[in-house]
Amino acid sequence: MNDLIQKTAQDLAGAKNVVALTGAGISVESGIPPFRGPGGLWEKIDPLEFAHIDAFMKDPAKVWNFFIKEMKEILDNAGPNDAHKSLARLEELGIVTTIITQNVDGLHQIAGNTDVIEFHGNFAWQRCLDCDERFETVRLDISQIPPRCSCGGIYKPDCVFFGEIIPPHHLLRSEQVASTCTIMLVIGTSAEVHPAALMPVIAKQAGATVIEINLEKTSLTQKTSDYIIMGKAGEIMKRLTSEVERLL
Ligand code: OAD
Repeated sequence: MNDLIQKTAQDLAGAKNVVALTGAGISVESGIPPFRGPGGLWEKIDPLEFAHIDAFMKDPAKVWNFFIKEMKEILDNAGPNDAHKSLARLEELGIVTTIITQNVDGLHQIAGNTDVIEFHGNFAWQRCLDCDERFETVRLDISQIPPRCSCGGIYKPDCVFFGEIIPPHHLLRSEQVASTCTIMLVIGTSAEVHPAALMPVIAKQAGATVIEINLEKTSLTQKTSDYIIMGKAGEIMKRLTSEVERLL
């Protein structure tokens, strides 16, 4: 692992247009559970019953009570960990330009990254299903479920649920940055959900080096990524960034 960190640090120190694709695994060290694998959310609840748009439209109170309320509690109390902070430092150093994240926790922006494509939206905002008004999640009154807008409409987190499309501008911009980066860091994603999982494939086909950082191998590991650094994102990214700073 030390050799791989060293190799990646050398590549990063000489690179300019580096993009990171991040997933739930990058926020695990911030206390936010992942979706798949041990302790994953989808082990406890069925995504089709709680994270599909049809389930929400059918029974918003149920989805709010058994999924969104808990999510709000966890996200309200989470802060960036060493992996988020390292990516922010790599942007300061002029190495990382853009982050494509599947996460809705906003932790990359809190850490300091300025160009973050939120592929699946952001939980920090709610959208009224009737008048389309946006409202900040922290200011939301959840004493009544489902919470409602002043117009009477129900609020839904401004996130992409299963069965909804990725906002086209996010998809197009992600494809554009993936196809022009020189290195793509793929951090803490199982790469099981499309189209986000296609971004490393696009990067690879356009000639980029694709480096995974994950606790375990994924479907990208054999075919798409050049190599994988196995371990916790926070620990690896911290060591990697210190090494980059030493080399500059
Ligand atoms: P997953 O939960 O599918 O995958 C998390 C990945 O992070 C796994 O590959 C783990 O091995 C890895 N992991 C866990 N802890 C880690 C750590 N401390 N350091 C490094 N890696 C770690 O999450 P995503 O790939 O983000 O979509 O899931 C993609 C999408 O599926 C989510 O955006 C969400 C979900 O359903 C929607 O809700 C639309």
